[in-house]
Amino acid sequence: MCSNIERCIFGVFLNETRFFIWSTMEKEIQLKGGRSTNGVVKSDNVVFRPHKNESDFANKFLKYLENQNFPYSQKYLGRDEKGRDKFLYIDGYVPNEIGDTTIEQLCRFMQIVKKLHDLSLGFTNNEKVICHNDLSPCNTVFVNDIPRAIIDWDSCAVGERWEDITYILWLWINIGSLNRNKIDIIGQMKTALFSYGVNTEVTENFADKLMWRMDKVISQMSKDNYQYNRTKDWVEFSKLWVRENREIITKEIG
Ligand SMILES: Nc1ncnc2c1ncn2[C@@H]1O[C@H](COP(=O)(O)OP(=O)(O)OP(=O)(O)O)[C@@H](O)[C@H]1O
Ligand SMILES: [Mg+2]
Repeated sequence: MCSNIERCIFGVFLNETRFFIWSTMEKEIQLKGGRSTNGVVKSDNVVFRPHKNESDFANKFLKYLENQNFPYSQKYLGRDEKGRDKFLYIDGYVPNEIGDTTIEQLCRFMQIVKKLHDLSLGFTNNEKVICHNDLSPCNTVFVNDIPRAIIDWDSCAVGERWEDITYILWLWINIGSLNRNKIDIIGQMKTALFSYGVNTEVTENFADKLMWRMDKVISQMSKDNYQYNRTKDWVEFSKLWVRENREIITKEIG
């Protein structure tokens, strides 16, 4: 039998435990912006993210980048007791949508991606690079309006430089947007390609490469995804823009 005092102590203990559990849970803040991964949360300066099959390769590559002192990725901190991946939180701004980035930000980003691709040669041990495969402004942390870090590495895989480059130009310049002037778009594409320091392996048949990359987005998307129809329309519209401007793209880029 418990005495009153024991009951009282036990009651306080129970309340404090509840408070401790409650305050721990409260500390996890849902991170908005992600479209494909549910349950990305932050607690203090750590991001917790559900582990996927493809995360193992990505996390191994992140560790490699860290050992190479690449400062523009997110630091991988291992897994927690629930199996979630942990990353260091980077304090900054991550856009929810594309369409608001400037050519100055894009040029800075192209230099970061060039460093990333060059460094990845030591990981692949051949002429192929590691492509991030989703280098959207929405996977970039900006600090003081400057691209500071790349997040969301689940899709990274061995590939060709132009696979990332075409995707970046498409999203950061918003190719195909009705509000953009075509001369302006081609001019920005050239400036960005120059910032990366591309060679003809990247630029030849550039219109075809752009369309191949656009197609890849829709071919890899599940038809059950609620974004499928919207994405398909966007891909078709962007490809139409490339088709209509093939001549000038070939003349100006390759
Ligand atoms: N290391 C980090 N530092 C700062 N913010 C982060 C970090 N990791 C994730 N975030 C935030 O959490 C959001 C979701 O994360 P993440 O991009 O990894 O998920 P996702 O669902 O796979 O995204 P996507 O829609 O691009 O596929 C990001 O948009 C960003 O706002
Ligand atoms: Mg993301």
